[in-house]
Amino acid sequence: MYLDLSPEQLMIRDTVRNFSDQVIEPRSEEMDRSKEFPWDVIKAASEIGLMGMTVPAEYGGTGSDTVSYTLAIEELSRASAVIGVIIAVHNSVSAYPIVKFGTEEQKKTVLPRMASGEAIGGFAVTEADAGSDAGGVRTTAERDGDDWVLNGSKIFITNGSVSEYVIVMARTASGTGSKDFSTFIVEKGTPGYTYGVLEDKMGITGSDTSELIFEDVRVSDSMRLGNVGDGFKIAMVSLDGGRIGIAAQGVGIAQAALDQCIKYSMEREQFGRPIAKFQAIQWKLANMATRIEAARNLALHAAQLKDLGQRFTKESSMAKLYATETATWAAIEAVQIHGGYGYTKDYPVERYMRDAKVTEIYEGTSEVQKMVIARDLLK
Ligand code: CAA
Repeated sequence: MYLDLSPEQLMIRDTVRNFSDQVIEPRSEEMDRSKEFPWDVIKAASEIGLMGMTVPAEYGGTGSDTVSYTLAIEELSRASAVIGVIIAVHNSVSAYPIVKFGTEEQKKTVLPRMASGEAIGGFAVTEADAGSDAGGVRTTAERDGDDWVLNGSKIFITNGSVSEYVIVMARTASGTGSKDFSTFIVEKGTPGYTYGVLEDKMGITGSDTSELIFEDVRVSDSMRLGNVGDGFKIAMVSLDGGRIGIAAQGVGIAQAALDQCIKYSMEREQFGRPIAKFQAIQWKLANMATRIEAARNLALHAAQLKDLGQRFTKESSMAKLYATETATWAAIEAVQIHGGYGYTKDYPVERYMRDAKVTEIYEGTSEVQKMVIARDLLK
């Protein structure tokens, strides 16, 4: 391990590991099959403080450090990538921006509800023509007295239709620069705010991925997050932290694949002995374990830099790039080790393969992470 984890960090990791084994794992397969949002698991996770990890204690959260949060998301995702992404998005790109950029009034109103799990959070940048190009956002927010009036739509929003609060990046000026955007906290039930398509996905099927529609949605200026014109930077800073969580999700999926392969290869016999006795399998397991450890250390390193208050943009992109590609690769290796059984729903490895792929796509594709890393190298 790159870091010496403190007794408190180890305790958080072990608590979440036990929770994942006892509460999440028995529900993972059913969550995938039913495609239903796992309200019961989120309620149980809320009861042990997992919905308030990035929220300071004064607003009802646990005020955990980023290293602890990263360890927690890995452990949750090892049992279910669905639970990993719901809790990661809620904490990192929804609650955290309010902690960092919110007014005292916003913090007092919104954060206790989010930290208790009563209100789930989302983060809405992506639109039909604004995916990797976040600056292509067309949703507008026009000032009208004490309000802003939002019009437009967002797609692929994690926790979209189940969120009580969603952070929305909208265009507040008509130019082409990064200062043309602002962010708003939009509450469920606001007139004109509705939901469109609920995506039917390849993986992470139990999570909610929705289209959000804004038709003359009035948001009070008191719910503007940060300064007018700072929306793009607020989104980027939020994503810097969010990407550590997705890296941790990748590590968790990859670790689950390895754990399953170790178990299977010691049980499964071919040619008169367990397949774990064959060097071909041993080398696969060794490669998986090595890449997973490297990915974990990249994620924890980025988390540590964030906790130290240092810049971590490049490091979080490196962690996300490497950990999520490791997740997909390890899950495919796991299917191969399981042979024909791996291609069936009798074993969880096909689910890991489907769940892993999206980690290379959301919160910035692998290609976007390479852009971020290269820009830092060449600046
Ligand atoms: N921190 C602070 N400021 C930042 C920043 C960062 N990490 N990254 C950029 N900025 C600032 C720049 O300094 C620049 O400031 P100035 O205008 O004052 O000079 C400004 O923002 C514009 O930066 P760029 O010129 O680099 O912007 P760009 O248009 O070239 O875009 C990009 C850069 C990295 C490609 C960005 O568009 C990006 O990250 N795209 C991917 C978006 C993404 O991850 N979307 C996922 C949405 S969330 C999701 O997946 C759903 C979910 O719910 C999980």
